[in-house]
Parts: sequence; structure tokens; C-alpha cells
Amino acid sequence: MKRMMVAANWKMNTQSSSASQLAGQLAGSWPETHVDVDVLACPPFPYLIPVQDQLGDSGVKLGAQDVYWEKPGAFTGQVAVEMLLDVGCQYVILGHSERRHVLGETDEDIRRKLVAARAGGLQVILCVGELLSERERGEMESILERQLSGGLDGVDENTVHGVVIAYEPVWAIGTGVTASPEQADQAHACIRDHLTDRYGGEVGASTRILYGGSVKPDNALALLQQPNVDGALVGGASLSVDQFRPIIDAAVVVAES
Ligand code: PGA
Repeated sequence: MKRMMVAANWKMNTQSSSASQLAGQLAGSWPETHVDVDVLACPPFPYLIPVQDQLGDSGVKLGAQDVYWEKPGAFTGQVAVEMLLDVGCQYVILGHSERRHVLGETDEDIRRKLVAARAGGLQVILCVGELLSERERGEMESILERQLSGGLDGVDENTVHGVVIAYEPVWAIGTGVTASPEQADQAHACIRDHLTDRYGGEVGASTRILYGGSVKPDNALALLQQPNVDGALVGGASLSVDQFRPIIDAAVVVAES
């Protein structure tokens, strides 16, 4: 039986009222605390507190979409690990492709954030994934290797425990195009092999690898049933409980099978 994770990445969406409402609906629709599925909501920074207020002790966990690596101090516009912990975050998403490709974040930036987050006790969802042009040139594996090596450079085995990897092919994010279950499983296997080579079989086998990229109620089960897929990182479909809840249900089916 595998422990699954379904994470909602709200990106730069919602306002205080809609974020609270969504979180309240999510908490209310998730009364089971015993199942082997972690459900996670990652709102924009300004809504972390109202969302956490709504989530309460529902079992739905709180995550942020980014963090800075420095200790609190003179870094205008940045948010520190200590601040995320202070408002109840347990997780942080790092290296999302929108941050890599729109905001120019490098593997080195991501590695520094990851090390700081883990040192402070945050769990990390490290995103990796290739562009369509890279896939077409047959570079998928080498891009995943580069992003994993870069993001985890010098990171020891203790630190890597508590890191979840999200495979998010850039061509599938927000496009309505989803990787086929086989494509997702192949990429996840390649990520698992990398982790096994680097940290040994226990880390390779136990690290959760989420798939992200146009996950919807109608494709979630087939993706989540793949042997190397341990959950989903969901953007668009996480903005409505009617869409998100069936994805959680699919994860419950797989976790209990
Ligand atoms: P999407 O986004 O589900 O809207 O494709 C996924 C993500 O970017 O995390």
C-alpha cells in the first residue's frame, strides 16, 4: 500500500474571500483522517493565515509556493522559512517551472532554498520537468538529471528524507495536454533511478514522486495507478472543490488498493 499525496497549487489565484471559501470547502469535504493520502493546499502568501484558519484540524495540510534561503533580515519582498513555519506551513513547493522559466530561477537558487527549508523543518516539493522542445530532442532524461543533480547538489541523505519530487512536464502545465500514464511512469522511473543511484535503494523506493500537468477528475485515476506515481500536484483543477475532490478520491482508491 503506498501513501499518496494530492497537493493543490493555487498559483497566483484567489482573493481573501475565495481562498477562505475554497479552504473551508476543502476542509469540510475531508473528514477522514485515517486514510493514506496527504492532502495539501498551497495558497498565495497573503492568504496562508486565513486558509490555515479554515483548514484547522481537518487534516488538510498547508504549504507555500516559494521561500527564500536567508534568515529573516533586510531582503525586501522575500519570505523566510521561519515565517512559513510561524503561520502553520508544513510544506513548500520549490523549483516550479513557472519560477524557473518566467522568473529565471536557477538550479542553484532552488538548491539553496531546499537546504534552508529542510534545515528549518519544512518538507519540500521539488518540481522538475522538461520543455516540449527538450522532449522532442530526446533530452527528457538529461534535463531531469540536470535539475535533480542541481537541486540536490551536496544535499545529504538526511536532508533528502522529507523531499517529495513533482514531475511536471512544462508542455502539460495549464495546457490541457496531459502526459499519458505511460509517459508519466517512464519519467518517474527515471527520477527514481537517479535517487537510487545517488542515495541508495531505500531513498529511491520511499521518495514520493507526484505527477503534475493538467491533472483533472477524468485522467487522475489512470495516472495515479501507475506504479511510480505517488500523487498529483494540481493547478487549475484545484481551484474548485468539485474538480479537486474527485482527484483526492482517485488517490484514496489507489492508496487503499
Ligand atoms: P495545471 O498546473 O494542473 O494547471 O496544469 C499544475 C502545476 O503547475 O502545478
